[in-house]
Amino acid sequence: MRLFIVKIFILSLLTMSIQEVSAHKKIETNNGILLVTFGTSYPEARVAFANIEKKVKDAFPDVEVRWAYTSKIIRRILKKRGNNIDSPSEALAKMGEEGFTHIAVQSLHVIPGEEFENLKLTVNAFNKMPKGIQIAKLGNPLLFLDEDNQAMASFLDGKFADITNSKSALLFMGHGTHHAANIYYPGFQYYLQQKSDKYFLGTVEGYPMLEQIIPQLKAQKIKKVVLTPFMTVAGDHARNDMAGDEDDSWKTILEKEGFEVECILKGMAEYDDVVNIWINHLKKVYENL
Ligand code: CO
Repeated sequence: MRLFIVKIFILSLLTMSIQEVSAHKKIETNNGILLVTFGTSYPEARVAFANIEKKVKDAFPDVEVRWAYTSKIIRRILKKRGNNIDSPSEALAKMGEEGFTHIAVQSLHVIPGEEFENLKLTVNAFNKMPKGIQIAKLGNPLLFLDEDNQAMASFLDGKFADITNSKSALLFMGHGTHHAANIYYPGFQYYLQQKSDKYFLGTVEGYPMLEQIIPQLKAQKIKKVVLTPFMTVAGDHARNDMAGDEDDSWKTILEKEGFEVECILKGMAEYDDVVNIWINHLKKVYENL
């Protein structure tokens, strides 16, 4: 009889704890993806973003995908045109409010520079928000680990090997930064030159600049230079600083130096193999939410 009472007691304890567990389980998890880029005011350049979105939706068919731009200036320009785009913190706040609990944020930056570091601070701040986001994690930019540099150099070499020969070089225009991560540009040129010494990578706002590249082109007796942006989109820098007709564009400067110049106005995100590198970073983060 005593044993029976003990059994009943244990049984009721068990049911209590099961009820308790199921009450907690009512908080459902809801995963989301947030893609973050610097942004662009060029509608033509946004084909690159459309390509990324399509590929992300193919890889994550049941997950909602949102966008945010980090550039305040670009968001302001677009707002005047009636196009409201969120900043990363606005997008995350809205997602938390709408019931997303686990969010994979993917950086669409090229290098882990200032933009990426700022985004990391924002994403970290949105972890364990009361009644909001539980977990938010950030995926690495395009170039992060050795394997990213290897994959990127192999893709570019496969894509552009035909363009280069003993007289023609391919010069990529990277953005460049005052941040320590600028070393990724000369670093990545090393990976490129393992493929061919006809690949060069300069920057608009960092090191090396065009003036450091020109003597190298001359030393190799290059006649023709093909220019293309080493940036997510072919936006303002590509259209003006690289391919523009102004006196200070790379095209004009190189032509004045006697080179024949051709421009490829295509952002890196327009190439599926490049987008796949970002998507692999996103998958790693998503699987560990
Ligand atoms: Co810029």
